[in-house]
Amino acid sequence: MKLLVTGGCGFIGSNFVRLALKTRPAWTIVNLDALTYAGNPENLKGVDRDPRYRFAKGSICDEAFVDGLVKEGFQAIVNFAAESHVDRSLYGPSEFVRTNIQGTVNLLEAAKRHAVPRFLQISTDEVYGSLPPEGFFHETTPLHPNNPYSATKAAADQMVLAYVHTFGIEALITRSSNNYGPYQYPEKLIPLHVSNAFEGKPLPVYGDGMQIRDWLHVEDNCRGVLAALEKGKKGEVYNLGGGNERPNLSVAQAILKHTGRDESLLQYVKDRPGHDRRYAIDCTKANRELGWTPEIVFEKGLAGTIDWYRENREWVSRIKSGEYRSYYEKNYGAAAGR
Ligand code: NAD
Ligand code: TYD
Repeated sequence: MKLLVTGGCGFIGSNFVRLALKTRPAWTIVNLDALTYAGNPENLKGVDRDPRYRFAKGSICDEAFVDGLVKEGFQAIVNFAAESHVDRSLYGPSEFVRTNIQGTVNLLEAAKRHAVPRFLQISTDEVYGSLPPEGFFHETTPLHPNNPYSATKAAADQMVLAYVHTFGIEALITRSSNNYGPYQYPEKLIPLHVSNAFEGKPLPVYGDGMQIRDWLHVEDNCRGVLAALEKGKKGEVYNLGGGNERPNLSVAQAILKHTGRDESLLQYVKDRPGHDRRYAIDCTKANRELGWTPEIVFEKGLAGTIDWYRENREWVSRIKSGEYRSYYEKNYGAAAGR
């Protein structure tokens, strides 16, 4: 299988590229990534010299570039590329519209034009909106995105399904809950709190800290993405959740405990505008149709993640200083790209 992955230098994409190359020896992967602030080629250190892997620097917003690349011929496209942070979407929504909606449409158009036989869109449970204390998101739950990030992801999902319906393209969608694990950019809750705890800095808790997220280890998600790619049906949506609902405050407290810090580092700050209260996902369909189930219990996964950040403190400090960008130039130089 020759696979085109977009956003492979980000958190989930890089974990997916590693897993796919490790477990699917016959596959080759081209990774199309624009290297935004969140794209770090160092996340693929070690696999970036694998002859089955190639990096193509470019943007999914660049229609001609996308078309030229897809024209090469691929058996599948997996679209991870996105602007992914809710807080950024509150202050700069246009980039989210461009990348998450127009970028996805550019990929769909290229997939249609060049008859790519499989297209997997990586989406999020946030498209369903916010839940009361009871109940779960099912694949049939009406979309009700509440912030600019989730609104653009919902729009992209609708475009994918419209291309299935109108043009018959072989596309499907996974919607996962909040991921955590190695290589997550330290602006999201868990890596931000872990790196701040190491440095003895305050851990910002939005509002009362009682918002609930369902935490899914990135390795579990990537196994689910592989299962959907190989076994999922055209036009279907598959929810992937961890079954680990936790209030943010208890996540922060667990991080303080694991890092040997006390609760004086908790810093309650002004709440995020329009903050979704609770996400919880039902993934019985993925279990039934893909044979997928999450395996990593949150407490164990969190401990392993904290250990990873402890052992890779330089990875975090290179991101915080902006130095991570030089890895690309040093290793690929001017000849990098397609
Ligand atoms: P990330 O922000 O860590 O990585 C995004 C990657 O996409 C980066 O490498 C970036 O350079 C690249 N990118 C951004 N704009 C691009 C463009 N125009 N062209 C090409 N590449 C571009 O994101 P992530 O957390 O790894 O999320 C990956 C996908 O999974 C996203 O689609 C996101 O919506 C979805 N998702 C994430 C989570 C989560 O908890 N992180 C949960 C559910 C779904
Ligand atoms: P985040 O990791 O940004 O993911 P998302 O908004 O996509 O769920 O945030 C997870 C939860 O943690 C969310 O309820 C917002 C909250 N949060 C904090 O309380 N403090 C923080 O510093 C951050 C980044 C998030």
